[in-house]
Amino acid sequence: MRFLAVKLGRMARSVRGMKDLYGRESDKFDFIFNKFRLVGERYGFGMIYTPILEYTDVFYRSIGDETDVVSKEMYTFLDKGEESVTLRPEGTAGVVRAIVCEHLDQCLPVKLMYCGEMFRYDRPQKGRFRQFRQFGLEHVGDKSPYTDAITIAIAVDCIRSIGFCDFKILVNSLGDDETRENYTKAIVKYFSRHEDRLSAESRIRLKKNPLRVLDSKNKQDVEICSMAPILMDYLSKDSRVYFNKVCSLLEDYEINYEINHFLVRGLDYYSHTAFEILPTSGTYKEAIGGGGRYDKLLAILGGLDVSGIGFAIGIDRLMLLMDDFFVQQKKRKIAVIPVSEGEDSHAFSLFRDLQNCEMASEFIHLGSLTKKMKIADRLGCAIAIILGSNEIQNNTVTVKFMNSSDAANKTRSIRLSDIINFLRCN
Ligand code: HAM
Repeated sequence: MRFLAVKLGRMARSVRGMKDLYGRESDKFDFIFNKFRLVGERYGFGMIYTPILEYTDVFYRSIGDETDVVSKEMYTFLDKGEESVTLRPEGTAGVVRAIVCEHLDQCLPVKLMYCGEMFRYDRPQKGRFRQFRQFGLEHVGDKSPYTDAITIAIAVDCIRSIGFCDFKILVNSLGDDETRENYTKAIVKYFSRHEDRLSAESRIRLKKNPLRVLDSKNKQDVEICSMAPILMDYLSKDSRVYFNKVCSLLEDYEINYEINHFLVRGLDYYSHTAFEILPTSGTYKEAIGGGGRYDKLLAILGGLDVSGIGFAIGIDRLMLLMDDFFVQQKKRKIAVIPVSEGEDSHAFSLFRDLQNCEMASEFIHLGSLTKKMKIADRLGCAIAIILGSNEIQNNTVTVKFMNSSDAANKTRSIRLSDIINFLRCN
């Protein structure tokens, strides 16, 4: 084959939609994965590495054969033993298959995280590849709104841990079996009235798996879908109570979220809480991550009848969004400056907190305030955190952006308890 390529004058190339990661890009990947892994460990998750190939049936049974992923995007082939195998298009099915095969569900809850290559034969474009990497985690055997809220909080913490804050969380509930049965009846009725205007593919889906009509990207279908009945109106009483509790816990967690009535996710295994993470700055609008609860997946794959919840974040998409951001973030230095000797120990304690959060920082405490500010400037600090007696009395700090030309935002007063998050996001 090599001979043939040379003879035809063509250079060997990588498969379309699959790229080499090296240099800065592989550094970015490692940086993100290491941060995410630490967050997962903090919440009690251990790593699992599952095979990249699974028997095709694993994905058919779990993701659903009418989904885009299974019906259009899987790399499926017969191996030399004539078995149908598939390069994993996502991580959940394989992890749940492993939990069942290894009998990990004998001891609940099971909390596993993973990171690796996924494959989808999609049309390559910005942020959409045929081979891409996901970090994800699955929490099985602990069904409670608390677990749902904590899972969403972990996803938020992961993304914040790399200093990226321009995102929002969309949530919805797909309810229980009763909910989806009633909702399916309602949308079948609705879509049937518009059947002649639906795309050929959506007409087939209407017969086989009506919920998947809502995934259509066809322009006319999207327009029809926007007027369809909403799931929330069909939630059973139990599902509504469950969802309301998840929402109130997210509020307790101070996680901003939006309810999106049409969020049904593109995979069949979901029930109850479903969520997606979307970027809010820049021109790129596709989801960075998504997840949700699955009540039946373990049982479908031959395991116990227990529920699970998880999410996956697309690392390639994050890398694209962050671009140079994380490099600057790593280099950005913070000066912690006590106004006078009386504030030295408070400032020193804050300096240690910043170091524990891996934030490049200097503790500058000798000389007058003017001299300390000059030293901070000479050391290349972009931000100075100033602690005087007023600040200590009010439990605040004064943050000064050293290079800012924007007078209104050059100096800010921030609550001491919020300073780490503030620095991550500014
Ligand atoms: P998903 O929404 O299909 O969910 O994928 C999760 C993330 O993977 C997406 O939000 C996106 O960032 C990234 N992604 C998906 N397709 C591509 C692509 N072609 N190129 C680049 N990035 C892509 C799942 O995979 C579920 N397994 C998540 C989950 C875990 N649900 C419960 N547990």
